Amino acid sequence: MSHVAAPEPDVEPEALCAAAELEERGRAWVWDVLECGRPARAFALRFDGEVRAYLNRCVHVPTEMDWQPGEFLDIEKRVILCSIHGAEYEPSDGRCVGGPCGRGQLTPLHVGESDGWVHWYPSRDIRPVPFDAPPSESSP
Ligand code: FES
Repeated sequence: MSHVAAPEPDVEPEALCAAAELEERGRAWVWDVLECGRPARAFALRFDGEVRAYLNRCVHVPTEMDWQPGEFLDIEKRVILCSIHGAEYEPSDGRCVGGPCGRGQLTPLHVGESDGWVHWYPSRDIRPVPFDAPPSESSP
């Protein structure tokens, strides 16, 4: 079982997208976050009915993994596949299950569904980007 950082009690959940937008093993929702104050990207996808979210950062080399924007799963839609060197991660917990990621694991984010929406619960280390912040360098 992966460790998901507990949400901060003083931080409101952030609505990410309508739950219906995350189709089973479909395109992920990608958004900007601040990890310890630094710009980063996260993604949420639906796998076996559950919404899972991780930082978009490979364990092998700290780079974004999607082979097209929001496309993280391999062609058979079994694993999260890093587009750079082919590391494979178990979608349900982010554990490395193949390729050059060793015993690594993606960094999970706490997400949930309610009232037809997917919500993210920020943690102490992974926070929302303030509305007045300049766009991150990695933004399109
Ligand atoms: S950067 Fe992801 S497998 Fe190398």
